[in-house]
Amino acid sequence: MKILIIGATGTIGRAVADHLAARHEVLRAGHSSGDLRVDINDAASIAALFATVGQVDALISTAGRVHVGPFATMTDAQARLGILDKLFGQISLTRLALPSITDGGSVTLSSGLASRLYRPGFSVLSAVNAGLEAFGRSGATDMPRGIRLNIVSPGAVRETMAAMPGGAAMLASAMPAAEVALAYVRLVEGKETGAVVDAGQI
Ligand SMILES: NC(=O)c1ccc[n+]([C@@H]2O[C@H](COP(=O)([O-])OP(=O)(O)OC[C@H]3O[C@@H](n4cnc5c(N)ncnc54)[C@H](OP(=O)(O)O)[C@@H]3O)[C@@H](O)[C@H]2O)c1
Repeated sequence: MKILIIGATGTIGRAVADHLAARHEVLRAGHSSGDLRVDINDAASIAALFATVGQVDALISTAGRVHVGPFATMTDAQARLGILDKLFGQISLTRLALPSITDGGSVTLSSGLASRLYRPGFSVLSAVNAGLEAFGRSGATDMPRGIRLNIVSPGAVRETMAAMPGGAAMLASAMPAAEVALAYVRLVEGKETGAVVDAGQI
């Protein structure tokens, strides 16, 4: 398969790309670095990327930023970041990419277990991730030409927690990115659609 990974310069995307590269042609796109660059918030940038790479059998997104922090003091700009970047960015990417995905191909997006785990500081993160999971389940019924749509919902990733101030407390339950990546591999290489696959815990 020819597989395009957006977010491939990141912690999870790199691990997904490394797994899939053993069996497939993998195209790795980043935002600020890499040979292929794209901004999922910019339709012209997405169009330019597909003009370069052409048709693909599978699109994976491990991109999307979101602010985590106390709700009462959160600014509008911080709240908008996740809703516009991670939620709308991935929905828009899916819609704009459809003409460039082969019949029976697949789209796999990233949410996160905060969709169903509620903690102080997670309010917008939970809303964004729950929105993506609803989009995956519902959107899968509305994909043309047999295209499959699925979501991976990662928990805390070990490499991220190791690098994050205060993340050490979550290291014991965090999953290595290479293991989280197996959920993406399963969805791309399998037959499922409308699935939300949890990868790890928080
Ligand atoms: N790591 C975790 O513990 C964890 C847990 C739960 C859920 N998740 C979710 O899993 C996904 C991937 O996480 P990660 O830890 O791998 O993130 P990451 O290390 O920060 O990597 C993000 C990737 O997305 C790219 N990117 C950022 N903004 C973009 C944009 N506007 N357009 C296109 N690409 C963009 C980045 O490119 P540049 O580096 O060039 O900016 C990078 O390649 C995210 O949606 C995250 O919320 C992660």
